[in-house]
Amino acid sequence: MNELVEAAKAAPLFNPLSPEFIRDPYPFYQQLRDNDPMHVTPFGSVLASRHAEASLVLRDKRFGKDFVDRSIRRYGPEIMQEPVFRSMSHWMLQQDPPDHTRLRGLVVKAFTARRVEDMRPRIQQIVDRTLDEVIPHGRMDLIEDFAFKLPVTVICDMLGIPEEHREAFYRSSREGGRLLDPVPLSKAEIAEGNAGNAVSTAYFQHLFELRRKHPGDDLTTQLLQAEEDGAKLSHEELTANIILLFGAGHETTVNLIGNGLLALHRNPDQLALLKARPELITNAIEEFLRYDSSVQLTGRVALEDIEDLGGRRIPKGEAVLCLLGSANRDPAVYPDAPEQLDITRANVKPLSFGGGIHHCLGAQLARIEAEVAIGTLLRRLPELKLDDPDNPEWRPTFVLRGLKRLPAHW
Ligand code: HEM
Repeated sequence: MNELVEAAKAAPLFNPLSPEFIRDPYPFYQQLRDNDPMHVTPFGSVLASRHAEASLVLRDKRFGKDFVDRSIRRYGPEIMQEPVFRSMSHWMLQQDPPDHTRLRGLVVKAFTARRVEDMRPRIQQIVDRTLDEVIPHGRMDLIEDFAFKLPVTVICDMLGIPEEHREAFYRSSREGGRLLDPVPLSKAEIAEGNAGNAVSTAYFQHLFELRRKHPGDDLTTQLLQAEEDGAKLSHEELTANIILLFGAGHETTVNLIGNGLLALHRNPDQLALLKARPELITNAIEEFLRYDSSVQLTGRVALEDIEDLGGRRIPKGEAVLCLLGSANRDPAVYPDAPEQLDITRANVKPLSFGGGIHHCLGAQLARIEAEVAIGTLLRRLPELKLDDPDNPEWRPTFVLRGLKRLPAHW
């Protein structure tokens, strides 16, 4: 395993955990697109860095997740004894049809555009309360004191997690991002993943007891009813998918808000434009997603031999990693200065929420959360300035791209 990590470090084109890459992956992406758009990593996966191949792979039925076989190929059969891997193997995110269709079908109605739009007043209330608390202080960390509270509170509401249980969860929910990175995990990282999984599993069993006794109008109650119906959902699937729903929207949405605010403040003309024309916020959020996506990569496995994908043969079982952040800046799709932030850009269709059957379930929710958070911040604190926009501190993960902190004052 360690030789693989060393090999990744030496690879010049794709070294995703190096400090340079974490700070600014975009020059590396450009090199990949220009010189080796279907680059083979030291782990034998193919990196699709152009929009054409990345978006095709996400939508093509010849590709799937194949999670268990892929994990066994990478780590050996004993990996499926690790509780965190067993849990992940039940996530809808890691399933292929027909199980994927069944699991997603159980929750999809809670995330429709209409249901999510109905949540806007509650989202506004959370943002306003957060700002009421911090405004008198004259300064805050936009990540911990502002962006972080919103998605975690919203998903706690949706899952029916009682207010008095939330504090402990708030602190634990931003760990585990390394599990997604495309570099093999060390034993210590797997152990850490198991520990986090054990804490979440124990809590959710407690919540299940509570909701069995006192059903509510929430997703947990809904899924418990599906489990009782028998064929629809096993207990392991129930627990794993509640953990997925709880985790999937946190750091991703925090990072959309954080990366968006950083991009705006580094482009003062765009910041001034959005303050002057707040109605541009919806398009601005799409542009933030495109410009610096909070999810940089997602993968698929070839379910059959594929003779030609971007000039390369992909044998059955090979993984193709779709570089969403690179596809979002591909000049073939965005011919007009793709490296620049332009909140008025027309036809922005970022790949940041993926595509095909796994297209992000929470996409519309995340958009509205970011719209309300950034729109309200600009309205209520127009004089806010970042302490140090030129030297932001990034979190050390690659797939989930976001800031550790973003101190600001007014
Ligand atoms: C799937 C990104 C917010 C729940 C995905 C995928 C991406 C993504 C790229 C697809 C992965 C793949 O195809 O392999 C994002 C980003 C977000 C965000 C960038 C915020 C900016 C949310 C929120 C929730 C959520 C708020 C829920 C509360 C999910 C779920 C899936 C998913 C359950 C799996 C869907 C499936 O497999 O059918 N997300 N996400 N996400 N997302 Fe999100």
